Amino acid sequence: MTLVSSIQIDIDRLQDRLAELAAIGAIDGTEGCSRLALTEDDGLGRDLVVSWMCDLGLEVTIDGVGNGVGVLKGRIDGPPVMMGSHIDTVATGGRYDGNLGVLAGLEIIESIVGAGIVPDRSLAVAFFTNEEGSRFQPDMLGSLVYVGGLALSDALAIEAIDGAILGQELERIGYDGIAAIPAEPPYAFVELHIEQGPVLEAEAMTIGAVTGVQGISWQELTINGQSNHAGTTPMSLRRDPGVVAARIMTFVHDLANNLGPPQVGTVGRVEFAPNLVNVVPASVTFTVDLRNTDEAVLQESEDRLTAFVDETIAGTGCTVETRVLARFEPVLFDPYTVDLVEASAKSLGYSVKRMPSGAGHDAQMLARVCPTAMVFTQSQNGLSHNPAEFTAAADLEAGANVLLQTVMALASAEVSSLKEAALPGVSS
Ligand code: GLV
Ligand code: MN
Ligand code: MN
Repeated sequence: MTLVSSIQIDIDRLQDRLAELAAIGAIDGTEGCSRLALTEDDGLGRDLVVSWMCDLGLEVTIDGVGNGVGVLKGRIDGPPVMMGSHIDTVATGGRYDGNLGVLAGLEIIESIVGAGIVPDRSLAVAFFTNEEGSRFQPDMLGSLVYVGGLALSDALAIEAIDGAILGQELERIGYDGIAAIPAEPPYAFVELHIEQGPVLEAEAMTIGAVTGVQGISWQELTINGQSNHAGTTPMSLRRDPGVVAARIMTFVHDLANNLGPPQVGTVGRVEFAPNLVNVVPASVTFTVDLRNTDEAVLQESEDRLTAFVDETIAGTGCTVETRVLARFEPVLFDPYTVDLVEASAKSLGYSVKRMPSGAGHDAQMLARVCPTAMVFTQSQNGLSHNPAEFTAAADLEAGANVLLQTVMALASAEVSSLKEAALPGVSS
């Protein structure tokens, strides 16, 4: 494929915006930040990104679940080629997860506008609400509602881990918008994201052309027992949910190891009640995150977990309550759009690897309604969901330029099908 556009992004401007956004909710002594969805700091981050959209002259809309979209009008009518991601973070977040996809979209639009180019199709950049799923479940919530996968009224009623209600939090930070949702599908969606894993770095590859996203199963288990005095209650007379929970937690780890890659299993949150040194707990609540690219194996991991929980709890006098927090099947992206990402990377001289994503992304929701793909860049030491998350400037620049080439090919009215766009030799 020849270069579709000779425009390149400005890496300093992109880095400056990443730093300015990361200063909101900055975690002292690190480069990372904490902006859980719909908190005060998430609101301030949104305000900053919206101000940048407005500075670029984009038409900005906010919908009922707080997704923000900025559109640069193209020459022809029709749905936009959309870029974007999320700007909420986990509580121990880095500055790149999600933020890169949104700010690279802005950077690309600024570069195109600065070069005096009006694209054929409109270009859009979006930030989706609560992608992380740390504060409200499920994850990818804003993009799920955007594509009609969850009713707005159901989303607005979701309770956070801190007891807040999503709809009230949106109102409180001023992001209960009026744009229609579910929205009209974009022409195509392409999300730039850091890999958040070790593969590209280990294989010395610059770009990942993401073929799809693995399935995600999140559940919350509460084991209930009998709270009692830790000194006076003989071991044989206890109903101790702590020990049941501990056995299940280690099982989750063993389960993933026994099933083998790509199965993963994580217990990321645990709460003992009353959580005191000298009290046999009344209950233990914890989360289980299971993932696999293969739906059948993912289901098997869920079934094995259920069987182990039943077997472990039998005869302990404890009971279990299970709540599904999120369940998404594996997603395959549109092959022509993935080809286009790969061809765009090659046209710029970058090494590129086709690979699935281990993390969840808004792109997996957009894939339900329009041709979708993702561009990955390296993550140093494979670290993410950690303030030490880092991607070198050269990798950020490479990823953003690949996104620019991909988006310009998709926006070209000369190209009437994605298959055509993905073929080598297409040029503007
Ligand atoms: C989102 O970051 C996820 O948990 O994959
Ligand atoms: Mn992300
Ligand atoms: Mn994340």
